[in-house]
Amino acid sequence: MRNPKDFFRPLAVGAPAPPREIPFRPSRMIHFFDPSNDKMVAKLPDMVGKADVLLGNLEDAIAADRKEAAREGLVRVGKEIDFGETQFWTRINSLDSPWVLDDLLRIVPEIGDRLDVIMIPKVEGAEDIHYADRLLAQLEAKAGLDRPLLLHAILETARGVANVEEICAASPRMQGLSLGPADLAADRRMKTTRVGGGHPGYLVREDPDPEDPEAPRATFQQDLWHYTVARMVDACVTNGIYPYYGPFGDIRDTVACEDQFRNAFLLGCVGAWSLHPVQIDIAKRVFSPDPADVAWAKRVIEAMGDGTGAVMIDGKMQDDATVKQCRVMVDLATALAARDPELAAAYEL
Ligand code: GLV
Ligand code: MG
Repeated sequence: MRNPKDFFRPLAVGAPAPPREIPFRPSRMIHFFDPSNDKMVAKLPDMVGKADVLLGNLEDAIAADRKEAAREGLVRVGKEIDFGETQFWTRINSLDSPWVLDDLLRIVPEIGDRLDVIMIPKVEGAEDIHYADRLLAQLEAKAGLDRPLLLHAILETARGVANVEEICAASPRMQGLSLGPADLAADRRMKTTRVGGGHPGYLVREDPDPEDPEAPRATFQQDLWHYTVARMVDACVTNGIYPYYGPFGDIRDTVACEDQFRNAFLLGCVGAWSLHPVQIDIAKRVFSPDPADVAWAKRVIEAMGDGTGAVMIDGKMQDDATVKQCRVMVDLATALAARDPELAAAYEL
C-alpha cells in the first residue's frame, strides 16, 4: 500500500496532480452513442445541452470489425464537437481485450484534453484501476495534459462486486461506478436473459388464507438489483464518488425503465445510462427531485433554524437527521437548477 502522503502524487513525472475531490456535476443520464455510426454522430450537436453526459462507446455492442472505426470516430467527435456544459465520456474496451491498449494510446494524446471521464468495463479489483491509473499518468505526461482524466468502473462481475470498496478507493481519479446488470447476470450465472430490470419469476407471495387455502394469493415482484445497487451506493459514498444504475434494455417498456431508475434514485444513485433518446427524458424526470419534495425540504430547513432540536410540521416530527436529508434534496435541486431555468422556476430557486 502507498504511503498516504504519496497518494496524491502523480504516477509519472510530468503528469498532472491527481484530484483531491470529485466535484458534483449533473450526470442524470449517460447517453451512449456508437462513434462509428455516422447517423448517430450527426445528431450529437443537437443532443449537447439535452443530455448531461454523452458517451462514445468502444466496447460491447460495437462489433469486432468496427472497433477501429469507432475509435477513429470518437477522435473525430472529440475534435469537432463543442460539448459546452455537457460532459464527454468514453467507454473503452475491457482490460483483457486486444483493443484496449490502442484505445488508450490513440485517445489520450488526441482528445485527452476534451474527455472528462473514461469508463472501464468489467473491473474486478483494485489491480485493474492501478493498471489504468499508471498508464494514464504516463500518457498524460507524454501528451502534456494539465488536467487528470477521471475513471469510472462498471461493476459487472461477481468478483468486482466482492471487491467494490477497494475498487472505489484504488485511485484519486475514481469518479464513480455503474451497475452493469447484463454482464453481471451472466457472470453470476443468474437465470435471466435481459439487460437490467426485473423478472416476473423473482417474487414473494402472500400467505394462504386459512379459511380459503385454495384462494388466489397476491404476489409482489422483487428488485433483482437491490442488493448490488445498495452495496455500490455505500462504497461510492464512503469514497466521495458517484453511483449510477446502468442500462435498461427494453426500450419500449418506458414504465418499467422509469421504475428501475427511480429505485436507483431513491437509494442514492445520481443517474443511469440511456440507450435511446426516450430514456434521456425518463432519466431527466427521475433524477431531478420532484418540485413538491423540494418545496417540503425548504420548509423543513426553514423551520429547523440552526438545524438542531425538533419541530412538528403537518404532524410529522423533524429533527437534525431529517434536516440533513432535506439539505441533500435542496443541494441537488440547486445544482441542477443552476444550469436549467425550467427547473429553477419549478423549484423556485
Ligand atoms: C453493461 O455493460 C452491462 O453489462 O449491463
Ligand atoms: Mg457490460
